[in-house]
Amino acid sequence: GDSVITLDTLSVPQINELLNKARYIESHRRQVARTCEGRVLATLFYEPSTRTRLSFETAMLRLGGQVIGFAGAQLASVSKGESIADTIKTVSTYADCIALRHPKEGAALVASRAAVNAATGDRVPVINAGDGGHMHPTQTLADLATIDQRFGRLTNLTVGLCGDLTFGRTVHSLIETLCRFGNIRFVLISPEELRTPRYVVNRIEASPTCSYEETTDLAAVIGQLDVLYMTRVQKERFFNEDDYLRLRDTYILDEAKLSHARPDMAVLHPLPRVNEIAVDVDDDPRAAYFQQVRNGMLMRMALESSVLGDELPGYEPLGDDGN
Ligand code: CP
Repeated sequence: GDSVITLDTLSVPQINELLNKARYIESHRRQVARTCEGRVLATLFYEPSTRTRLSFETAMLRLGGQVIGFAGAQLASVSKGESIADTIKTVSTYADCIALRHPKEGAALVASRAAVNAATGDRVPVINAGDGGHMHPTQTLADLATIDQRFGRLTNLTVGLCGDLTFGRTVHSLIETLCRFGNIRFVLISPEELRTPRYVVNRIEASPTCSYEETTDLAAVIGQLDVLYMTRVQKERFFNEDDYLRLRDTYILDEAKLSHARPDMAVLHPLPRVNEIAVDVDDDPRAAYFQQVRNGMLMRMALESSVLGDELPGYEPLGDDGN
């Protein structure tokens, strides 16, 4: 299969197929348990992770495959100065699929070009598990599944994105992808210093059916939203700690603020959270972030089996038009 660097690599029908596969997997856990038997996934994580790495790994294990990898660059030979290309060429000899998280934007693309099994000449698919402040496509798959479960659609929605819109890679991937579903009104809520990058705003402007507004005031817009996607201020991407400390608590969603939101609004957050969502919100029926965690595992099961070309026993595809 092909590498997944951004979700642009997948057509909208292919994304719909993954959503459908995840639903099938959830209700056929035993039937799919040997789908990837004999396969090896490598998880190469040069940055911290709880959800992404462990869900990539549990997804492969639950499909009957096996997992190798490292968590933390200090444990791998990159700490001795090895290049990403040499690391990927090496791991491509061991594994059928690679999930890569790296602090540098573009690292997954570079890796995908080096990912060839030297013995067979076969390309080894690389899945971007987060590249710096750029993209996080598999988080977007979890986000889409969650929005779809809440609203039954991925279009005709007002989606607020709040917090660190500059460095928040999950936001960039989600905007890019929702633009392709269309008819989305984006409300971009951030401090002036953490506005959405131009290359992401360009995607909205290029969409004939999507629109956006930018604001610093969450309270002023919360009542208009179907989805409120909260994000953590990305401490690790700041050059200056004082800027981080000044900006980190700009938005804190609590029950008082939520009382002005629609009763069916969905609160999403890719996690980990720091202070952005008070724990009292967790019991509110609008809180959807632990549903996102579960969907992250199911969507990675769907993606891994698809990228490897391993068919889910008993699964009937939606077909080419994704309907
Ligand atoms: N959502 C997400 O990427 O979480 P982790 O950093 O824990 O993988």
